[in-house]
Amino acid sequence: MSDSEQFSLFNLPDSNGSPPSPPQASPPLGDLALIPTSAQVPIPPGTFQTMADLQEPCSHCQRCELGQSRTHAVIGRGNPQASLMLIGEGPGQHEDEQGLPFVGKSGQLLDKILASVNFNPAQDVYICNVVKCRPPGNRKPEPPEMAACLPYLLEQIRLMDPKLILLVGATAVQGILGSKIVGKAGISKLRGQWYTWQDAQGKERLCMPIFHPSYLLRNQSREKGSPKWLTWQDIQAVRTKYDELVF
Ligand code: URA
Ligand code: URA
Repeated sequence: MSDSEQFSLFNLPDSNGSPPSPPQASPPLGDLALIPTSAQVPIPPGTFQTMADLQEPCSHCQRCELGQSRTHAVIGRGNPQASLMLIGEGPGQHEDEQGLPFVGKSGQLLDKILASVNFNPAQDVYICNVVKCRPPGNRKPEPPEMAACLPYLLEQIRLMDPKLILLVGATAVQGILGSKIVGKAGISKLRGQWYTWQDAQGKERLCMPIFHPSYLLRNQSREKGSPKWLTWQDIQAVRTKYDELVF
């Protein structure tokens, strides 16, 4: 066999220098490596196989400017196979330091609220946030930051496929249900009711807005009609719906 015949056995560039086109596999999912570089890069459904797969791209994500000041990206905690998902606003200082959501004072109260109706925070829920990186000084995330991060959250929802979603505070309501509904009414009006939200796949999902635990910490009254009292009604309604749907 001549040298040139032997060369032709390998897929080397032909005489005009262009490499042979690779066989067409399944449709391209986009370049995983590009996702953290710009909010313009889409994150199509199916990009991630497990919740853990989000950790690596989020840990060096620069889709928005929150990437410049974070210590740790915060993906989630709890059980990704659970039926109840909680979505908060974004990491605070403790969450940024530990890389886990709701581990500060708000998180301790949230765990108590869940435990009050026998939800085990490690087994029965998965907890995450609208934005994965801490906004400096705990300001609210800006709409472009929420938009840049939303496709990660939509992948988390697709992967988990929760039966019920709790939108913890006004930012989560805005992030999922949209500012139209928030514009119509504040969280005090929206909380405690189930809304049907169509996810990225067109699947209808039941979501309930509840007060943010940081708001409850600032409003300690337990009187009838107070935020704490209302949240107690809400979490009991969540337990009832969960027992209907999950058992
Ligand atoms: N507040 C949030 O909304 N999320 C957290 O993870 C912590 C505090
Ligand atoms: N503002 C919020 O963002 N969330 C609440 O739960 C209450 C006030």
